[in-house]
Amino acid sequence: MNKVTVIGAGNVGATVAECVARKDMVSEVVLIDIKQGLSEGKALDLLEAAPVHLFDTHVKGVTNDYTATANSDICVITSGIPRRPGMSRDDLLGTNASIVRSVTEAFVARSPNAIIVVVSNPLDVMTYVAYTASGLPGYRVLGMAGVLDTARFRAFIAEALNVSVRDIQTLLMGGHGDTMVPLPRYTTIGGIPLTHLMDSDQINQIVERVKTGGGEIVQLMGTSAWYAPGAAAAEMVEAMVKDSGRVLPCAAWLTGQYGLEDLFIGVPVRLGRTGIQEIIEVELNADEQRLLDTSAEHVRANLAALERVLKASNDS
Ligand code: LAC
Repeated sequence: MNKVTVIGAGNVGATVAECVARKDMVSEVVLIDIKQGLSEGKALDLLEAAPVHLFDTHVKGVTNDYTATANSDICVITSGIPRRPGMSRDDLLGTNASIVRSVTEAFVARSPNAIIVVVSNPLDVMTYVAYTASGLPGYRVLGMAGVLDTARFRAFIAEALNVSVRDIQTLLMGGHGDTMVPLPRYTTIGGIPLTHLMDSDQINQIVERVKTGGGEIVQLMGTSAWYAPGAAAAEMVEAMVKDSGRVLPCAAWLTGQYGLEDLFIGVPVRLGRTGIQEIIEVELNADEQRLLDTSAEHVRANLAALERVLKASNDS
């Protein structure tokens, strides 16, 4: 694999491009945006950072010129409007659905065998939009959310226990919204279960903070996060470029796993050069399954809202 396209050169897209370039694992990153000069400027800035960071990846920026993206191996879609204070990710649905659909179609026409990683919100539904617009098989379309949400979980645990983030492993499932399901039972610190190191009140406080972690940042800055989301998407790209078999939580197309089908939602998957190589089914207790089902219902409600939006736009 040697070419990665990042659609959308806003804060998240530019951070994805930077993180991918700094990993020095592909020959080219193409950054594309509709705003004249934005991609070109950010790509040039990144190119000028290469002699300092010492990467050979060439970063190219273009304005809406999809010919430059031809024959990409992986595409990361970050296009769309971000949240403002008081908005939920779901409020972005109508606007972002048409953007994600059109950029997917323009991209896939020139890279019919790529893998698509969606970052735009509401994440689980936008991944579905990219899936239907691309015509790609389910294992080649995935959503970035679990890597970000587990990163937040790990950061908060590290802070609370004063331990290194390196030693924390955790799992989180469900939609990328307030109904996401962090799983303390599948969380360890240096191999030690979290439940041995923290009492349940402290765990619950952290779980609640993780679930609203995106909103916490929107409240602080007036717009949504980019460092952690960008780094998380680049980590997924790296797993596929290197065919590493990393096990990461991603929004995946389910066909009966966890009793769910016909939707994208966060589950643990094994990533390799063909995309999602396996959806891993862990045992959930009744409470955990109930939380996952509730999260899936929320995603389904958003999918129904998407259908209404599409019907309205077809009727008008
Ligand atoms: C967040 C946005 C990217 O969680 O959804 O910060």
